[in-house]
Amino acid sequence: MDEIIRVENLSKTFRTPFRRKRVDAVSNVSFVVRRGEIFGFLGPNGAGKTTTIKMLTGLIQPTAGTVSMLGGGPADLSVRARIGFLPEQPYFYDYLTPVELLDVFGRIFGIPARIRKERIESLLTQVGLFEARNRTLRKFSKGMLQRTGIAQALLNDPELVILDEPLSGLDPVGRKEVNDLIATLRQQGKTIFFSSHILADIERLCDRVVILDRGVTKAAGTLSELLTSDSGEREILAGGITDVSGLNGLDGVVRCETYGTDAVRIVCESAASDRLVGTLLRAGGTILGVNDRRISLEQLFVSRTIREKSCPATDNEGEVRGVSE
Ligand SMILES: Nc1ncnc2c1ncn2[C@@H]1O[C@H](COP(=O)(O)OP(=O)(O)O)[C@@H](O)[C@H]1O
Ligand SMILES: [Mg+2]
Repeated sequence: MDEIIRVENLSKTFRTPFRRKRVDAVSNVSFVVRRGEIFGFLGPNGAGKTTTIKMLTGLIQPTAGTVSMLGGGPADLSVRARIGFLPEQPYFYDYLTPVELLDVFGRIFGIPARIRKERIESLLTQVGLFEARNRTLRKFSKGMLQRTGIAQALLNDPELVILDEPLSGLDPVGRKEVNDLIATLRQQGKTIFFSSHILADIERLCDRVVILDRGVTKAAGTLSELLTSDSGEREILAGGITDVSGLNGLDGVVRCETYGTDAVRIVCESAASDRLVGTLLRAGGTILGVNDRRISLEQLFVSRTIREKSCPATDNEGEVRGVSE
């Protein structure tokens, strides 16, 4: 698989001239994004995600380290032409309709009039805004604006799409819509790099992630590498069995508990799982599932970014709060 982005030892230090404060926003970050994958760039507020994305898109210069992408650097026009970008807080002139807005961007990209019209219509259909295409943006919800921004990022038919917090500020329905859209983009062969501090739903979406905290990489890898526990344990879910006391004493069982009203969940040593499945079947149970024990991305995120007693805290939607600087 070929590399689309290679970031090596990237660092950015901001200096505020008056207060003489030094902020190490990004410290020694390295990662590779491969063609066709969805890459999640995760971390709490203030972690350095936007700063990294600004260096990827050539908006600011790194203090140290290198970014190579699509065979060049962020400043190369030929590279920029192949990238689509949704900034963290896109600002659109809100008296325009989506069609008018995309037409302005299409002209800037130099897309010929006839192709422009077709592409705008097909993009608005893809992001689910075709019906609303002639309404002014000021009447749009946050989710609709986010999808307008994504349509704008796709206008030049980019190979690489960089989205800064595309799920932020959306309700569960809006999040699902944007999630589905990102998954569709991958099916079309695009590479997607996106940042997020919201973890719900991301587990199904990303091929690989980097978790950043205070500018430092806390974890990196494929989700299966990161989320499969290395405890060598498996989990068996069995229906039709309610008595856990007899199971607890069996060889290889780490623990078991009731699950709902007529099932049990057994955590066991991986090597013992086949034997225990046999035992459960002979006892009249049905096997509902056998899985390597995985932690959730949210658990991983919290465990890797935890630093003070008071934070970070997560709410029910997996949004990390209270961890800005
Ligand atoms: N232009 C700037 N000048 C000074 N500090 C900055 C600037 N931009 C970002 N920072 C600081 O860098 C850190 C990382 O910010 P940012 O990249 O926006 O984080 P994230 O996008 O993960 O929330 C924060 O401490 C932020 O206050
Ligand atoms: Mg940000």
